[in-house]
Order: sequence, then structure tokens, then C-alpha cells
Amino acid sequence: MSQAEDHAGTRRDFLYYATAGAGAVATGAAVWTLVDQMNPSADVQALSSIFVDVSGVEVGTQLTVKWRGKPVFIRRRTEKEIEEGRAVQLSDLVDTNAENKNLAPTAEATDENRTLDEAGEWLVMIGVCTHLGCVPLGNNAGDFDGWFCPCHGSHYDTAGRIRRGPAPRNLDIPLAAFTDDTTIKLG
Ligand code: FES
Repeated sequence: MSQAEDHAGTRRDFLYYATAGAGAVATGAAVWTLVDQMNPSADVQALSSIFVDVSGVEVGTQLTVKWRGKPVFIRRRTEKEIEEGRAVQLSDLVDTNAENKNLAPTAEATDENRTLDEAGEWLVMIGVCTHLGCVPLGNNAGDFDGWFCPCHGSHYDTAGRIRRGPAPRNLDIPLAAFTDDTTIKLG
């Protein structure tokens, strides 16, 4: 490769990352506009626990809500996402801890230990990259069909487990539970 081509390549890489970063910001702004409309009133937000109506969340989509100042991803996974998540061996993982506040601190990061329901359809996670705190992009983003953090290139799988890139841990799973068929309580 000539020096000129090499420089062009470097510039392209830079442009790619700059564009990816701008995209993340734009997406974040759009998401937060939606969240603002959906959020309960300020006094309710101040409570440590919130109840989220998930009746409108279709299979293959994700709802983002704000809880304790952080985005929380509530994803209703497709069959394909569940199958992909369950096919992964612990030996393939960077972080083998479930990082799930609903389980013992030693629980392993199997797909089953990361999801909220037995069928594995619902996945609730803190939407903050464990590297330096950016909000990852979802909807089958990245090389593992899950989430991708464009800040420094961290790829998470369909169970939100870190698979490639600088992030050291799986996305955190907060205290969460179904209180009825269509309501998830956070906290
Ligand atoms: S903050 Fe996500 S990769 Fe660095």
C-alpha cells in the first residue's frame, strides 16, 4: 500500500468513527425525546423503584426507560436471539459472571441467568457500556447481533455479554421482576 493510500485509509477510519459517534449522539437524542414523553412525573421518577408497562413492546424491539439516572434497556428477544444466546459456551466469554443483581454474585453468565423469564424472551439491562460509560446501540448491532458501543468498539451479544472490544464486563442487570403479565418492576 502506498503512503498516500495508507493515509487515505487512516482518514477513512477516522471518518467512520466520527460518523459512528455522531450517529450514537443523534440516536440518543431521539431515544430520550421518546423517553421524556413516556416517563412518569418527576415525583414518581424520584422513587427508587418504578413500574414499566411493557404491553406495547413487540418481539424484536426494545424499550429504553430512565431509572436512577441511567438508561435501562428492556428487550423482547426473537427466537433467533434466544437461540444464539443459548448456544454460547461459557468458555467463549470474556466475563463469565452473570452480573445479575437478581442472582447470587457468583452466578455464571449463561443466557438463562441473564434473562428475566424462563423462556428467555425478556432481557433487562442497564444501558451503559462497562468500558467508559457510553450508551451502546441496540437492535442486533455489532458482530454478535446484540449491542455495539461505537465509542471504542465494544461488541455485546444477544444476552448483553461482552464478546469483543475493550469493555471488561457484561452489561449489568438490575433488580427487576414481572409483577403481572405486562408490568416490570425495576428496583
Ligand atoms: S465506552 Fe463503550 S467501548 Fe468505550
